[in-house]
Amino acid sequence: MASESRKADAPTKSAPTQRAHRGPVGGSAGSLYVRNAWYVASWKEDLGPEAPVAVTILGERIVLWRSAGRVMAFEDRCIHRLAPLSRGRCEGANLRCMYHGLLFNTEGQVVEIPGQPNVPPDARVRSFPVFQQASWIWVWMGDPALADEALIPPAIALDDPDWMMGRGQIDYEAEARLINDNLLDFSHFAFVHEQSLKTNRSHAEHVPNVSPMPRGVRFQSWREPDGAAAEHWNEHTYIIPGILFSQSATFPAGTGAACDRGFPDLALATHIQVACQAVTPTGERTARYFFSFGVHRRFGDEAWLAKMMATLDQAYAEDKAMIEAQQKIIDATPVPRIMPTAHDRGVIMFNQQVAALVREERSTLGF
Ligand code: FES
Ligand SMILES: [Fe+2]
Repeated sequence: MASESRKADAPTKSAPTQRAHRGPVGGSAGSLYVRNAWYVASWKEDLGPEAPVAVTILGERIVLWRSAGRVMAFEDRCIHRLAPLSRGRCEGANLRCMYHGLLFNTEGQVVEIPGQPNVPPDARVRSFPVFQQASWIWVWMGDPALADEALIPPAIALDDPDWMMGRGQIDYEAEARLINDNLLDFSHFAFVHEQSLKTNRSHAEHVPNVSPMPRGVRFQSWREPDGAAAEHWNEHTYIIPGILFSQSATFPAGTGAACDRGFPDLALATHIQVACQAVTPTGERTARYFFSFGVHRRFGDEAWLAKMMATLDQAYAEDKAMIEAQQKIIDATPVPRIMPTAHDRGVIMFNQQVAALVREERSTLGF
């Protein structure tokens, strides 16, 4: 039977202190999520040059639109009579509200009011810092003065020449936080993904190494089945507000021991794949889940990728079914409480970082 070199972390050692971390779940979107963070708003491929798009992040409706190669993010609410600017029209470098025709420039300032020669200088709509990177459009929901592009987590673009990538997105009737928890504890693979990924219980017996990193956590694991010709390495990071970047590779037996179960030499791999995912809270009980998956071009072709994407679609549907069912139970429970296990180390580490940042924002920024 397969054994795992890294199940050495005995549950008693790695299990969190239950008293310290037992606690209620649930709450409002405003109090659960960091605002000073880059949230994925859309795939950049889904925002055409003359076609404003409405998205919702942390309960706020935002219109995304493009002008001369730049992307803009405004509050999706005209300052005149609150019509949605996402029903507006791009006119050169500007966006026109298609109710009564106010024209906004790229800064959100009104530059024309049909039939009124004077435009008040404070006639402007709120705009959000926005940046395009690695096939995603990222919007900063907090203090614009703190919007540092260096805080955008790593991801691989769909058109990266080294990778063959597939992508998708799913809307959830559940809190984003429950999806974060799911992506921070892969022991669920053993049970939730029995059908799609043909997993078994051994996946839950393997406890990865977890360590904190700036604004997130890092997981690393080697699986070295006894007597097998191949070993599997995975490293993934989960960065605030909920961005997963995972690399997995297969190696000949003995590679893990040779690198002391650290970061391997990827030139020795016989297969390498990546996953980039983002969880965006849209409302208190709704979220949008963006995902991409890819194989290094040395190891996969389009047919291989298409088959994997079909399998992953099934797996993501399994997660959605479980998490939405879990949300219903939580909502119907007067005082929902949780009991963490050894696999919750990453979940707890991440949620504690989020809670600390939320507290800091509340005290210093008044969010
Ligand atoms: S609501 Fe936008 S111009 Fe009137
Ligand atoms: Fe899953």
